[in-house]
Amino acid sequence: MAVLTPELRAQAEAIVARYPRPRSAILPLLYLVQSVEGWVSPEGLREVAELLGLRTAEVEAVATFYTMIRPRPTGRHVVNVCTNLSCALRGGRDVYAAAREAAGLRPGEESSADGLFTVREEECLGACDGAPVMQVDFANHERVTPERARELLDALRRGEVPAPSRGAAPRDFRHACRILAGVEDLA
Ligand code: FES
Repeated sequence: MAVLTPELRAQAEAIVARYPRPRSAILPLLYLVQSVEGWVSPEGLREVAELLGLRTAEVEAVATFYTMIRPRPTGRHVVNVCTNLSCALRGGRDVYAAAREAAGLRPGEESSADGLFTVREEECLGACDGAPVMQVDFANHERVTPERARELLDALRRGEVPAPSRGAAPRDFRHACRILAGVEDLA
């Protein structure tokens, strides 16, 4: 079954028209597909390639380079915890363990059985001065303690949208992907 509905396909064509060369639209289109599926499936890759006149392998090469593009189904919220050097020195691994526990993940699991959370260990998120950093649906929360990580996941479980360290936060991962595709505002 097609990932992009006729309405989304029209949005995809409008995205492509923003760029002088179609291939420049690969990432926004991958975000658009991800906003539908919560991940980018093989069918999603194929549709992006067809829209851009590229081979699926070319689109896949981009999709697999960026960790923001998920190759497996995700929960409603994607929580990335940085465990790179600055964050590790300031307790990032404990934050990661606390987030996994709060999400109810068993060893080897990345996503919770209730469909609410995907928790991932991430490399440097580019905000080392705020270490340890935890991202919720791409919004950064800085100087997070294990206790704060549990509070954040509890708030998400209640349907709240916790305020990040700067700016506003998307409602969930799919909303974040629509914003990154450029078809919806952060409101
Ligand atoms: S090492 Fe964690 S944000 Fe840079």
